Parts: sequence; C-alpha cells; structure tokens
Amino acid sequence: MLLATVLLNGFKSLVTSAMSSNKFNVVFVLGGPGAGKGTQCARIVAEYDFVHLSAGDLLRAEHQRENSKYGAIIDEYIKDGNIVPVAITCKLLEQAMQQSRSNKFLIDGFPRNQDNLDGWEKEMGDKTNILCVLFFDCPREVCVQRCLSRGAAGSGRADDNEKSLVKRLDTYMSCTMPIIEYYDKKNLVRKFDASPPADKIFAEVSKLFNSL
Ligand code: C5P
Ligand code: MG
Repeated sequence: MLLATVLLNGFKSLVTSAMSSNKFNVVFVLGGPGAGKGTQCARIVAEYDFVHLSAGDLLRAEHQRENSKYGAIIDEYIKDGNIVPVAITCKLLEQAMQQSRSNKFLIDGFPRNQDNLDGWEKEMGDKTNILCVLFFDCPREVCVQRCLSRGAAGSGRADDNEKSLVKRLDTYMSCTMPIIEYYDKKNLVRKFDASPPADKIFAEVSKLFNSL
C-alpha cells in the first residue's frame, strides 16, 4: 500500500497535460517574492525549449516605456505591492507571446489573484494549453531575506524594501495562495521546496522538464 502510494505520488509529479501543437503551451510559475521564480526560469530556458515571460518584468518595462498610458498606474500598484488590473498584464503577456516564434512559455508571476485568473481565462483560455503550474514554496523569512539582499545589492526595484515587502507577502498569502489551491484541485501544481540553493532546486525541476 505504502509502495503504491509512493509510486503514485512519484508518477503524479511527473505527469503534465500533453503538449498542444495548435495552442500556446504554458507553464505558470508561482511562489512568494524572492522564492526564485526568475532564477529557476532562467535555468529552465537555458536547457529546455521554453520562452520565459515574467509578468513583473513586462510590467516594469511598460512602466519605463516612453508615452505608456499605463506607466503611472503600474508604478502605483507595484510600489504598494498590489496586483495591476489584469487587462494591462494580460495584454502585455499576449503581445509578448504573439511576438515570439515559440509556442512553449514559462509565465512567471501570473496569475497572481482572482482578477488575473478570470481575465486570463476569458481572453486566453481558448488559445492556451496549461501544462502545469510550478509552485516554489518558500518560508516567509527566506523570501524577506532574499528580497532585502537583492535590494541592497542594487536590484533597482522600487519594491525590494521592507515596506513594500510586507504588502507583497500579504498579497501573496491572501490573493495568490488561493490561485495555487485552485490549480492544485485540478492536479496541475508541481511543488518544489524553494529554500535550498538554486542548483539543488533546479535538479528537481529538471526531472519534471525531462518528462515534458
Ligand atoms: O513577480 P515580481 O516579483 O517581479 O512582481 C513584482 C510586482 O509586479 C508585484 O508585486 C506586483 O505589484 C506586480 N505584478 C502584478 N501582476 C502580476 C505580476 C506582478 O501586478 N501578475
Ligand atoms: Mg521575478
């Protein structure tokens, strides 16, 4: 019985939806601030045929773009650790997907709340095939330490400071965790312990990507 359970769990963790040839294939990447989503995505794209799109990076780039009509609103949401309305984020993601020649994407930091999820399902649901959701599970103290170190090392991010971090972590717990639970009920979540060093986490992540 125990052996059967172990085997089943091992099998489940390697299973994802089948790759689609006529839709965008998507792996969502979620976890708290500083969990290492961006770091692991960079490692994945170096070895596997995926394009990395970070919702946070796309929003920061849009904020810096000259004459962007969304610049001010994005700035306000990011500084306060809140989630930008999905119409803006989804549009940036779709544009980036259309511009890429790939049909395999790692979408990092999205969907972050119910508004993100609803907007995505409405606009992109029919055009995309969700392969799985990577969940980098990281203790709060580790998240705080990593973001503060990143800020001190000159990340230049408006939100790698103690004040914004409190709000970002609250937003993560109250708004993002329910989204992870939603996908977990669909058996799409693949959870990784995000506290060890990046190499060790990637060794686990690789096992999943080798099976895709
Ligand atoms: O993922 P990252 O830590 O780069 O996100 C930074 C900030 O970007 C978030 O705290 C949030 O303000 C904004 N963001 C958002 N919606 C997303 C992803 C990021 O509003 N889906
Ligand atoms: Mg990131």
